[in-house]
Amino acid sequence: MSEKLELPVVLVSGKDSFLVTSFKGELHTHKGVINLEELTEKNYGDEVRTHKGQSFKILPFSPSDFFRHFRRSATPIMPKDIGAIIAMSGLRPDSLVLDAGTGSGMLAAYIAYFNRYGEVITVEKRRDFAEVARKNFKLAKLKNIHQLIGDVNYISDGFKKEFDLIVLDMKDDYVFIPKAKDILRVGGYLAVYNPYIEPSKRVYEIMKKADFVELECFELLKSNYEFKKIGTRPVTRVWHTGFIVIGRKC
Ligand SMILES: C[S@@+](CC[C@H](N)C(=O)[O-])C[C@H]1O[C@@H](n2cnc3c(N)ncnc32)[C@H](O)[C@@H]1O
Repeated sequence: MSEKLELPVVLVSGKDSFLVTSFKGELHTHKGVINLEELTEKNYGDEVRTHKGQSFKILPFSPSDFFRHFRRSATPIMPKDIGAIIAMSGLRPDSLVLDAGTGSGMLAAYIAYFNRYGEVITVEKRRDFAEVARKNFKLAKLKNIHQLIGDVNYISDGFKKEFDLIVLDMKDDYVFIPKAKDILRVGGYLAVYNPYIEPSKRVYEIMKKADFVELECFELLKSNYEFKKIGTRPVTRVWHTGFIVIGRKC
């Protein structure tokens, strides 16, 4: 059954993926130029050709496209780490989540998507970064994210609610741990992402002293492979992204 296109859509050819947010004008790719007006007559799964005859498939924009197509400000968390946070932090479709700092909004967007009936409050101290994230949330049509601009250490003084999950990806994250414990509900989780082991160890030790249970500090390594006639080998050059500390308030 054919399904009419709804913006945004993605045009995919092999490993290439292009984001389309308008059915007007032209899209210039290294495989040639696509007349976007042609898309108005198409359905998902149809193909569209560049002026050089190269074919692209038309697919709906999906959460896997957040990472490919979101604009970037601060370095976003990688999907493998986001997946672990979502799977290990008790996230339900109706959770109340605090995310600091917002950065590009990558983590906040994935959490909001899988928390369809809940809410994400995301705090960013830089207005310009918050603006980039706002555009990303709009692209992803996420309406359950509330953005606050300021230092989470002060802004959170106004929080009365009990959060189900707090995620931190910001410098000096350890300072916020006592406050995070105060505003988490019993059974709620705190997940802290850090690219370096020393701050992660510090976070782990502070969370241990603060009686968080099910406490873990880990990193995930993802290795991509290429398959050639001569043989198979990993193509991932940078393995390390960051460490995650997760614990549960009791
Ligand atoms: C690495 S980025 C976060 C990336 C984000 N998790 C993502 O996936 O796109 C860290 C962000 O924290 C913000 N930040 C640092 N300290 C903060 C604070 N005390 N309160 C709010 N935001 C803070 C920085 O401005 C920066 O944008």
